[in-house]
Amino acid sequence: MSRTVEHHKTTAVDSPEALGAETPEASIDALGTLLTPSANSWWRGDTIYQIYPRSFADGNGDGTGDLRGVRQRLPYLKELGINAIWYTPWYESPLADGGYDVADYRRIDPAFGDLAEAEALIQDALALGIRTIVDVVPNHVSAAHRWFQQALAAEPGSPERARFWFHPGLGENGDQPPTHWPNNFAGPTWTRLTNEDGTPGEWYLHLFDPEQPDLNWSHPEVVQEHEDILRFWFDRGVAGIRIDSAALLVKDPALPEIPENPGPGEHPNTDRDELHTIYRGWRRVAEEYRDRAPLGGRALIGEIWLPDAERFAAYLRPDEMHTAFNFDFMTRQWKAEELRASIDLMRDAHAPIGAPCTWVLSNHDVTRVVTRYGREDSSFEFLKKRRGIPTDLALGTRRARAAALLTAALPGSLYIWQGDELGLPEVEDLPDEERQDPMYHRSNGVDPGRDGCRVPLPWSGQEPPFGFEPEGSTAPTWLSQPADWNTYTVEAQRKDPGSMLNLYRRMLEFRERDAALGDGPFRWLTASDHAGFGPEVLAFARADGFISVTNFSGEPFALPERAQLLLSSSPLEGGLLPADTTAWLRLTQHPSRTN
Ligand code: NOJ
Repeated sequence: MSRTVEHHKTTAVDSPEALGAETPEASIDALGTLLTPSANSWWRGDTIYQIYPRSFADGNGDGTGDLRGVRQRLPYLKELGINAIWYTPWYESPLADGGYDVADYRRIDPAFGDLAEAEALIQDALALGIRTIVDVVPNHVSAAHRWFQQALAAEPGSPERARFWFHPGLGENGDQPPTHWPNNFAGPTWTRLTNEDGTPGEWYLHLFDPEQPDLNWSHPEVVQEHEDILRFWFDRGVAGIRIDSAALLVKDPALPEIPENPGPGEHPNTDRDELHTIYRGWRRVAEEYRDRAPLGGRALIGEIWLPDAERFAAYLRPDEMHTAFNFDFMTRQWKAEELRASIDLMRDAHAPIGAPCTWVLSNHDVTRVVTRYGREDSSFEFLKKRRGIPTDLALGTRRARAAALLTAALPGSLYIWQGDELGLPEVEDLPDEERQDPMYHRSNGVDPGRDGCRVPLPWSGQEPPFGFEPEGSTAPTWLSQPADWNTYTVEAQRKDPGSMLNLYRRMLEFRERDAALGDGPFRWLTASDHAGFGPEVLAFARADGFISVTNFSGEPFALPERAQLLLSSSPLEGGLLPADTTAWLRLTQHPSRTN
């Protein structure tokens, strides 16, 4: 049975009490069919596939991916078993930051297609039961956006400039920037304009590239315009909005420097309390669409990087966003205690507000997971010198397989970055002249940037472009693919039963069919459930006797006997679960509890 738009798995809000999970006598057998139906809330447990349109598939043969390419490959995604697609920005853009510099939300960048093609893609996907999520980038626009162009043409103090953060400089000649806030891409955060007569002018704020001027969210037109953009895409059948840099929009108008240890809500440009009013407004827009068939609920999904889990979860209160990316988990080391702590931290933060967790191993901004997990230090941090760090790809791949099953079994929704289902490694040796990411250029190469995880996907054949382009096209791909990616192609992996692709397919098939997976109950299993479960062997139970076990111990592990093996990330060895492997099991007996 496959999930469709009209009919999809509905499961309960996590309720450990209902499982007796907190009582010492609770046993894994106590996890029965305790699911209760919930509202039309697909975002609580669906599998969402992230597409970077530039690098997914090229339909017109110019070396850049496009919407036609995605349309042609929808059957692949259906077969993979995903429920929704999140597209990184596909709007008109100079692509100074890969599309996160939006010039016009109501047009598609000509490199990717046009609005009619996007509408057709949304409908084609829907016909396969796949929802669409678009990316909205409210913190900033492109310098090419009409608002910024109008602001540049207008005088200091004009209404056109009031939509942004234009400010005179400090110091006698105004040649000092208004603040010394750090830039997310390294380098300056303010850029000074030159007046028409050649004299130096005002400064404008950009927390990212100078091509991405920050909007002033205390301006009512900025608020109104974004609510209209949401409606524009909801009206076209979009089911969810991924909100870019969601915690950065509001700035302290007094423009103070950042205090040494800012208390909650005290940072001048991050996580300010006024943000919640903005997202309550967005939620009201989403609610307008809630009951419209066939999509049902429309979801707001936040990109929120905040170290404080409680502050993070505050954005997920019932009248704000529906869910947000769990970066805490994504940036942790491949270590049992780290991942367990992260799972607990995030579940505890989400529980009081009834919001679902998300599980993410990577995305278009971070090092590919097989490369990261093959490093001695497998954590992730931006603006850290990360070039030339040795990695063991075989080990990283083994761990990435185990991580895939571990995350797919946790309660909540699952996000898959395109190419992770192929086990693609980070392309670390891209020629420097090909690198486009401002993060690389603005950090003077300290941060290798994000191009290495954005290389066009390999589909088939023995040499570049590996089926990325239509047959016979010879245009070089916008980033070059490694010559030895023939073993990573979809075509090659389809034929190999042990491939990453086939693991993902089986995993997602289970996730789709098995009511225990996705949203729903969860309980850690301990040594009192089975000898050896504990600090180095992370084991947990879901409903219906479903169990997930990940072995971090370095030693083979004896699994419970009363269990049927459903799937494992690497083959068992002599009946034992090898190191860096996850197994999914189902208890074969459910003796009723006697006490
Ligand atoms: C977060 C996005 O994921 C990233 O790719 C982008 O560069 C920044 N926000 C700025 O929009």
